[in-house]
Amino acid sequence: MGMKDVFEKNPDRRYIMFGGKGGLGKTTFSAATAYWLAKQGKKVLVFSVDPQASLTDIFERDIFGKGPVKIMDNLWAQEIDADSHIKAYQDEIRKKILDMYGMPAVPDEIEQYIQAASAEPAMEESAIFDAVVDVVVKGDYDYYIYDLVPLGHALYYLSMAKVYDEWINKITKLREEMREYEEMVSRLKRQKETEQDQILKELLYIKGRINASSSILTDKEKTAFFFVVVPEQMIITDTEKAAKLFAQFDVPIGGYVVNRVIPRRLLEQQIPEYLRNRIQMQEKYLGAIRQSFGDRVLASVPELERDVTGLPMIEKLASIMYES
Ligand SMILES: Nc1ncnc2c1ncn2[C@@H]1O[C@H](COP(=O)(O)OP(=O)(O)OP(=O)(O)O)[C@@H](O)[C@H]1O
Ligand SMILES: [Mg+2]
Repeated sequence: MGMKDVFEKNPDRRYIMFGGKGGLGKTTFSAATAYWLAKQGKKVLVFSVDPQASLTDIFERDIFGKGPVKIMDNLWAQEIDADSHIKAYQDEIRKKILDMYGMPAVPDEIEQYIQAASAEPAMEESAIFDAVVDVVVKGDYDYYIYDLVPLGHALYYLSMAKVYDEWINKITKLREEMREYEEMVSRLKRQKETEQDQILKELLYIKGRINASSSILTDKEKTAFFFVVVPEQMIITDTEKAAKLFAQFDVPIGGYVVNRVIPRRLLEQQIPEYLRNRIQMQEKYLGAIRQSFGDRVLASVPELERDVTGLPMIEKLASIMYES
C-alpha cells in the first residue's frame, strides 16, 4: 500500500500530520501532500505554528502571521504567529483589569506580573493551542495539514489536550454543583441569573472547543499521523520510541514515510567510494526500517538534487511520494 491508497481508502481522514525529529522533512512532506491533494480537487489548508516560518520558505511566499494565504487553486497556507496571540492575551487581561477595577491605567506591579506570565512556556503553548483549535474547529477546508514542529513539542501539545480536558472536566463539574446552590440562593433573594453563570458558560465553551480538537486528534476515522524517518540508526530508534508514546496518547499512526534515500541505481555507475559506502550504509538501515515498520512504510523518497523550495520542486516530490 502506498500514500495514495491510504488517502483513497480513507476519505474521512481529513486531519493530516507529519511528525518526526528536526530537519527530517516534515514541512517538505506536508507541502507535497497539500499540493497533491489540491491537485486532486480538494480544498486544502496547510498550517504551522513554527516561528521559523518554514512554509514561507518552502512556498517562497510571505505567509507568516498573515492568515490563510492562497498558494494556488484549492491550496492555502497559514503560519500562525504565536507571539501576536500572546500579545492579544495580554491586552485582554489588561482590559479586564481596567474594566473590573475602574482604573485609568494598569499598575506597575500588575504589568510586571503580566509580562512575567507571558514569558512562561505554558502561556505560549496555550496561545498556540488556542490558535490551532481556532483554525481546525472552523471547518472551512476538506483537508487540514498540520505542519508540526519537531517531535517533543508535538507530544507536549497532545498531552496538553488531555490535561486541559481533565482539568476543565473537574472545574465544570464543580461549577455545576455550585450553581445549584447559587440558584437556590438567588431564588430566595429573587435575583436574576447570577454573574457567576458567565464563568460556567465560558468554561463549557472552552471545554467544547477542547473536546472538539482533542477528539479530532485522536479520532482514527478523521486523523492520520505519519512519521518521517531517514535511514539512520539513531532516527530509527527514536521513531520506535516516539511511536510507542503516541500510541499511549491514542494518536492513530497512519504510517511511515522514508526520506533522503540515495538512489540505488547509482551503484551501476562509476561513483566515488564515498558514495558507494553511503548507499551500502543506507541499505542496512532500510532493512532495519522494513523490519521495524514493515508494511506500514508507505513511501520512500529519494534525496533530490537540491533542497525542496518552490512549486516545481514540491510538485516533483509530490509525484514521487504519491504516484510512484
Ligand atoms: N528528499 C529531499 N531531497 C532534498 N532535500 C530535501 C529532501 N527532503 C527535505 N529536504 C530539505 O531538507 C531541509 C529540511 O526539510 P524540512 O524543512 O522539510 O524538515 P522539517 O522536518 O520540517 O524540519 P524542522 O524540524 O526544522 O521543522 C529543507 O531544506 C528541505 O528542502
Ligand atoms: Mg518543519
